Amino acid sequence: MSIPIHTYDAVVVGAGLAGLAAARELKRQGKNVVVLTKLHPLRSHSGAAQGGINAAFAEKDSVELHEFDTVKGSDYLADQDAVEFMCQTAPEAVRWVEKMGAVFSRTEDGKIAQRPFGGQSHPRACYAKDRTGLTLLQTLFEQTNRLGVDFLDEWYVSDVIYDQESGAVNGVVAYDIKTSKFTIFNAKAVMFATGGYGRAFKINSNAHANTGDALSIVARHGLPLEDMEFVQFHPTGLAGTGILMSEAARGEGGKLINSEGERFMEKYAPDKMELGPRDLVSRSITQEILEGRGVGPDKDAVFLDLTHLGEEKIMARLPELRDLALTFLGLDMIKEPIMIAATAHYSMGGIPVTVAGHVRKNPTETVTGFYAAGECACVSVHGANRLGANSVLEAMLFGRHVGQTIASDLDNLTLNPAKESDADTAIQEMQTILKHNGEQRVPDLRSRLQASMTENAGVFRTAESLKKQKEIIKELHELYKDIRIDDKSEVYNTDLQEAIELGHMLDYAAFVVDGALARKESRGAHFRNDFTKRDDKKFLKHTYAYMGKRGAIKLEYADVVLGKFEPQERTY
Ligand code: FUM
Repeated sequence: MSIPIHTYDAVVVGAGLAGLAAARELKRQGKNVVVLTKLHPLRSHSGAAQGGINAAFAEKDSVELHEFDTVKGSDYLADQDAVEFMCQTAPEAVRWVEKMGAVFSRTEDGKIAQRPFGGQSHPRACYAKDRTGLTLLQTLFEQTNRLGVDFLDEWYVSDVIYDQESGAVNGVVAYDIKTSKFTIFNAKAVMFATGGYGRAFKINSNAHANTGDALSIVARHGLPLEDMEFVQFHPTGLAGTGILMSEAARGEGGKLINSEGERFMEKYAPDKMELGPRDLVSRSITQEILEGRGVGPDKDAVFLDLTHLGEEKIMARLPELRDLALTFLGLDMIKEPIMIAATAHYSMGGIPVTVAGHVRKNPTETVTGFYAAGECACVSVHGANRLGANSVLEAMLFGRHVGQTIASDLDNLTLNPAKESDADTAIQEMQTILKHNGEQRVPDLRSRLQASMTENAGVFRTAESLKKQKEIIKELHELYKDIRIDDKSEVYNTDLQEAIELGHMLDYAAFVVDGALARKESRGAHFRNDFTKRDDKKFLKHTYAYMGKRGAIKLEYADVVLGKFEPQERTY
C-alpha cells in the first residue's frame, strides 16, 4: 500500500477555538498550515460553550481580581505565571475577537454586557445571549476562511510521528473518514487542539466527539499526561442526559431547590450561594440527592428554578437553555422549575505544555516541533477546578498565542522527512479492528466504561471505588482485544472510528483513575471521602503520569508555579 505524504509548515489538529485561532495566526504570517478535524469545524465542541468568556473590563473589577479568583478557584493548583498571562491578556483578546465581528450582548450604554459566574468577585463573563462559544467559533471560522486556511474536515488523526531519538515531532498520520485511506502529513510543527475527554463518563455535557484521542496518542509514545484526575463536574446538567444548562442560568438569578423546597446552597456556600465554584456546587447537589432530598421519578436530580426571572429576561438571555429543557425534559423554564444534576463537563488535566505552548517531555524538557492548546492541554491555568467562562478564554487566547509561538519557531525548525513506515502503527490498529471477529461489541464495552466511571470516579471518590474502577478498566482492556465490528467497509465506517475511539477512552480513563487513587487528599474537583482535606504538604504538586510497558502507569510529581497568591483555606 502506498501512502501519500503531504508537506506543510504546520499541522493543526482540531478546529475549535484553539485550533482556529492558531491557524489564523499562522496563515496571517504567511505559513503553510492545514487544519485537520474529525468533524466540520462548526461542529467543534467550543460551539457548545454557552455562558461567556471572562475579561476584567468593569470599573470595579481588575486583572488582579481575575487572577485571584482563578487561583483560588483552582484550589491553588494552577500555575500562577500562566494565570497571570491569561488574565492580563483577556481584555485585549476579547476586543480582538469583537473587532473581527463577534457580536456580544450589550449593556444599555453600549458596552459589552457581563454577567456573574461562579467563584467570581465581579460579573466578568462577556456573553452573546447563551450562545457565546458558537458566536466566537463562527467568527474565527469566517476569518480563517477569509485568509484561505486549508481545512480537511472529517479526517481522523490516528498517530503523531514522534522520533524518540531526536526528541522531535515530524507530522501526523491521518485517514479520511470518507474512504478510510491513510495520508501522512509531514510538517515542522504539529499542534494538538483536540478538546476534552468527558465522554468517558455516562452523564456528561460533552459532544460525542470528545473521546480524548489525542491524549492517549501522546501517552502511547511514552510522553506524560498531567493532572488527569481533575475532571470537572458541572453543577447543572439536564436530568437524565447531562446536557449543559449554562451557569448563566444561576448568573441570571436561578435558584437550586431540593425536594423539601429548601434553597440548600445556604448550607454549603452562605456568601456565594448558587454562585459558588463548580466543584462546591456539584458536591452540594450530589450530597442533597444522596441524602434523599432529590426530585424526579428516580429522585436523582434537584430543581433549578428560573420562573421568577420572567419570560422577557429568559427569552433575551437564555433562549437556548429554554429550548433545550423543553426539548429534552418537556419542561418550560418560564412556567416551572427544571430538573438538573451534576454532569462531567471539563478536563482540567491534559497534555502538559509551557506557557508558550511547547509540549513537555517531562517537567523540565520539551518536545521539538510539538505544541498543544485548549482543553486537551494542561498549561495549567485551571489547576484542580476551573472557573466558568475561563475555558472559552483559555482556548481562544492560548490558541492564538501558540499559533504565534509556532510562527516564530518555524524558522529554527527543520523538516525531517517522513517515511511510509511512519504510518505502520496506525494501519496495524485499523487492520486489527477490521479483521478481528471476536465476541465483544464496542457499544457494550463503552457503556460499561462510562457507567462505571460515573459511579466510581465521579463527584465523590474513595480508595475502594477507585480500586474497583481500576480493575474494571483492566478487564475492559482485555475484552477490547476481542471486539468485533459488523461494518467492514471503507466508506464512512463509523463502527471502525468508534472502536478506535474506545481504545483511546480506555487508555486515558486509566490515567484518571490512577492519578485519583494516588492523590490522597481532596482538592478542587477531586474529592476523596476517605481524605476529605487538602494536603498541601504532600500534594501541592502536579501529577505527571507516563504509560509504561503493558499499560502500567508510572506517576511522578512536579512543582506548582506559585506566585503572589499564597495557598489559604478556600471558603465561599
Ligand atoms: O456554564 C456554562 O455556560 C459553561 C461555560 C464554561 O464551561 O466555561
